[in-house]
Parts: sequence; structure tokens; C-alpha cells
Amino acid sequence: MHTDPENRQAQARPATSGLGRRALLATGAALAATVGAAAEPKASRPRRRDAASDTPPAIAAIPFHGPRQAGVTGPQLPATHISAFDLPSTSATADRETLRNILTALTHTLSTAAAGTLPDPRLHTGEPTRLACVVGVGPTLAARLALNVPAELADLPPFPGDRLDPARGNGDVLLQLCAADRWTLTIVAELATAAAQSAGAVPRWTQSGFLPHMPPGVTPRNLFGFKDGTANPDDPTAQRWVWGPPGAHENATIMVYRRIHMDVAGFAAVPRDRQEKMIGRRATDGVPLTGTAEHDDPDIYAKHPDGSYVIPVSAHVRLSSPRLDAGARMLRRSYNYDDGPTDRGLLFCAYMRDPSLFTRVQTRLSTRDALNPFLEHRASAVAYILPGTLPGEPLGARLRT
Ligand code: HEM
Repeated sequence: MHTDPENRQAQARPATSGLGRRALLATGAALAATVGAAAEPKASRPRRRDAASDTPPAIAAIPFHGPRQAGVTGPQLPATHISAFDLPSTSATADRETLRNILTALTHTLSTAAAGTLPDPRLHTGEPTRLACVVGVGPTLAARLALNVPAELADLPPFPGDRLDPARGNGDVLLQLCAADRWTLTIVAELATAAAQSAGAVPRWTQSGFLPHMPPGVTPRNLFGFKDGTANPDDPTAQRWVWGPPGAHENATIMVYRRIHMDVAGFAAVPRDRQEKMIGRRATDGVPLTGTAEHDDPDIYAKHPDGSYVIPVSAHVRLSSPRLDAGARMLRRSYNYDDGPTDRGLLFCAYMRDPSLFTRVQTRLSTRDALNPFLEHRASAVAYILPGTLPGEPLGARLRT
């Protein structure tokens, strides 16, 4: 959905075994189209499927290696599994070594999994593995081990209405796996967890999530039925607000995770036009109430002739508008979750250079958002998302562990 052009350098690995030359050429052409679409900057990407895309897109592997981790830059795959681990917390010296070992073990397992060469027969499906990973380090561990992380990395303050379960949040090492299918995700999560555990990591929590399967360039929906992720930054804007400044952290970012319970039935009972005023966009196509196309910027200053705002004062997109934060934007790549009939919601996953942006937005939302009667924040985590890595080098090599 949103791919860093720098990841183009790494070659996708097509499934070629057993194909004749003609089939191979056809697959190659379709593959090139798919990879090209994924790698193209968002701003210049066509948003509708063309005639050629009526045939199912060819499946391409996603390179693990690159300057930035593919789980942030690559297409947003429809299934996710997030896990957090703690370190045993013995001495700083011992924990530094444990962290190095965990990151080395994860790098090995995840890069092998992404390349489709893990020996586990359960992964030999005959198709390339579509896997994208995000590995990060929590603020408490970073402070305890004096790691080389940005000064902005910090835990979030409490917000009004929070009902956070500490057993489902925080953690020393955060791992997000995203895959095209639930099967791959489950097996790779099992193998990555085993690798981390044998290097000394203690599992803390896990969380699964999902998205509707969407063609490239189409915004997925959340369980309230609205498109979620429309107003994400294009690449130049992300360079300014999502990725670190030039220097040690320029290919790193900070992730904010919130497990937000949603009263889906309660929201569904609200008439459609009121729902749209709560969000500030139309439900069918995501068009802002002040615009004519999905990607029009919501104009929070536009007024009706009677002087009232077109996007109401408590609308979600007004309170989260970058216009209230000097243009600062976060990159949202959230997932839905379904943990039984009474617990469904959103795994809010957002990347930003400075998590104080999240704090400012959530401070406004938590007191005034029209969605609040239907939401409850139940878990939270922050992590420094490591720069990507090249073959032969483990993730986190520059953490100075
Ligand atoms: C379950 C909770 C939430 C739901 C259902 C939700 C839903 C939405 C929807 C439908 C949009 C409009 C489409 C889009 O631009 O993606 C949106 C925009 C946005 N949301 Fe949320 N959101 C939730 C939580 C949050 C939280 C916790 C934050 C940050 C504190 C946040 C920040 C934003 C931002 C920054 C935008 C883009 C505003 C713009 O640039 O126009 N959202 N959200």
C-alpha cells in the first residue's frame, strides 16, 4: 500500500519452479507490474484497478533486507500477528548480550522465512511467502541499557478514559509480522517466537489482527465500516514526520500501538448521516464532508451559511487534523481485531518520528472525539523501530548493545 522506493533495490523472488518459459515470462511481466505498483510512491500511484488487474495479481515475495523494515514500507498485508517479549532483567551487561542474541536470532529466522527457505514443510505451499516484519525495542529497555535510540522515545502518558491492561501492552522487544495469509503468519510467528525464546526472550503478549483483502491502492475499512488510512503522508511528507532526521536514525521510526475496543453494534445503530458527522467523512467512499474525492484534504475551517462548521467540532478528522499540529503527520497502518463476541476493535498502529505527536492528538481525541462513547483504549505500547538491515548484518547492529 505504501512502499519506500529505497526498498526497490532488493529483488522480489518469483515462484518459478516447474514453470515453462512462456508461463515464466507471463508471470514475470505480471510480477514486475505488481512489484512496480507496490514500490511506486503513493502520490503517483493510480487508485483504481485497470482492466489488466481484473486477473488476480501475481504473487511476489517481499524482500526482508533493505534500508528500512518492510513491515513499515511495504504493502500492508491483510493478516498481522504482533508479539512482545521481555528480557530476564539480570544485569545491564548480560541483558545487552541477550538483546543482541535475540535480534540475531530474529533476523535469521525472519530473513529466511521471507526468502521462503525455512526448512519447515508447513511453509512449503508452492507459492512465494508474502511476509513483512517490524522489529522494535521498547523505551524502558532502551533506557535501562542506555541504547542508541532517539531522545523522543518515551512511554506515553495516561489519557482520560484509558483502561489499559499492562499484561497486553508494553514490552522490551516488539515483533509485528504481517502476511498475505493466516497460515504463514501462524507458522512464522511460532518459529520466530521459538528463536527469540531460545535466545533468552520471555513472551509477554500476542495479538492477531486482520484487514479486508483490498486491491493495491484501495484503502481498507475498519469495523465501523469506514475507510481507515486515507490521510496518510506521501513519501516526502513521511520523510519529514515519520522517519528519523538524517543521521543515526534516518531509517528508523517510532511505533505507537493501541488496542482499542470498539462498540461495533452501538455505532451501527447510529443513523448513517450522524456517523459521517462523527468521523467527518462519508462512509461509502471516504470522501471528506468538505470535498469531492477520497484524497481531498478535509477542510476543517469550511462553514455552512449559518456559520456552523461543515466538519463538526467533535468530528474525528477535525480533532486529529495535521492542521492543528503544524502539519505533522503519522503513518497509520492499523488492523482490525476480533477476540470474541464482546471484544472487537482496532489495533491502532502508527509510525512517527516523535510520539509526542500521538500524545497531542490523543489528548484532543480523548476529551472531545464524537467516537468516544463507542471506544475504549485497552492496551498500549511504544517501540523504537530499528532501521532495516543488509544481508550478513543483524537488526539493531547500531544500537550499541
Ligand atoms: C478505534 C479508534 C479509531 C477509529 C475507528 C478511527 C477512524 C478513523 C477514520 C475513519 C479516519 C478517516 C480516514 C483516514 O484518514 O484514515 C481517521 C483519521 C485519522 N485518525 Fe483515526 N481512528 C481511531 C483512532 C485514532 C487514534 C487513537 C488516533 C491518534 C491519536 C487517530 C488519528 C487519526 C489521524 C491522524 C487521522 C487523519 C486525520 C487527517 O489527516 O485528516 N485515530 N481515523
